[in-house]
Amino acid sequence: MKPGPALMKHFLQIKDLRSEEYAYLFERARVIKTRFKNYERYVPLVDRTLAMIFEKASTRTRVSFEAGMYQLGGSVVHLTTGDSQLGRAEPIEDTARVISRMVDLVMIRTYEQAKIERFAAHSRVPVINGLTNEYHPCQILADIFTFIEHRGSIQGKVVAWVGDGNNMANTWLQAAEVMGFKVHVSTPSGYEIDPAVAGVSDRGCYRVFDHPMQACAGAHLVTTDVWTSMGYEAENEERLKAFVDWCVDEEMMAAAQPDALFMHCLPAHRGEEVTAEVIDGPQSVVWDEAENRMHVQKALMEYLLLGRIG
Ligand code: CP
Ligand code: NVA
Repeated sequence: MKPGPALMKHFLQIKDLRSEEYAYLFERARVIKTRFKNYERYVPLVDRTLAMIFEKASTRTRVSFEAGMYQLGGSVVHLTTGDSQLGRAEPIEDTARVISRMVDLVMIRTYEQAKIERFAAHSRVPVINGLTNEYHPCQILADIFTFIEHRGSIQGKVVAWVGDGNNMANTWLQAAEVMGFKVHVSTPSGYEIDPAVAGVSDRGCYRVFDHPMQACAGAHLVTTDVWTSMGYEAENEERLKAFVDWCVDEEMMAAAQPDALFMHCLPAHRGEEVTAEVIDGPQSVVWDEAENRMHVQKALMEYLLLGRIG
């Protein structure tokens, strides 16, 4: 472990950083992405190690953190529940104490938010949330960076959330509160967002609509996610029925602003939460969104380990 910024920070939910820190991170992500696209070597994290702990499956999160850390000159250790003592009930606190004596940074994808908070409370190094049942802050960093790239500032804009009141929805709400935009939410009955779980105090940062068309009306960004998140597979059959009217289609996109973007954190199920016409259509920026996971997370890792550059 090498010396880092005077104040150690974790990134467990959006509220952990302030609005001006996000402005810094988005600008830094732009610089880091530009260097990457120009094949410029940039290795500020030589000799630093990131441990990645996955208790759920992943494609994007794993590849973006792993490739990103190597590109910054560091290295990565990859652990899963099945191939570590976590799967044999070693307490999360003990795991945190041990791992954080050997590496500089930890990324965790797990179930309850409480678990990552317990890890962070016993960690000597910064901890990043790579998705929990409650939040997915790295994804929202990428989504907002992607919006900024395509449309400029998200401040004052309207984001339509169509579908499950899940980890992505909660994280959008927190981001709206911290960064100053609005979320128009439509979920099926029984799958509503709980503001206490979302962790928002300003009820003005979101509005709830019964019908997804109403949520999409005038929106600058329309976004959705799978009907059944990881960990909720037992509910799949009932969710397939409950969510049938919450499929983002061309009619919903037509209700939004004419230049509205479509985003999806992926993986997507065409014909369920979104039609192929929308996700593969001209308003969709899902591939930029996926790529940007790597660029924003490189900026985040640099910030947590080195503080502000320049
Ligand atoms: N969007 C996202 O986190 O994708 P993975 O589950 O593939 O990591
Ligand atoms: N809400 C989804 C996001 C996957 C990236 C899940 O938690 O499975």
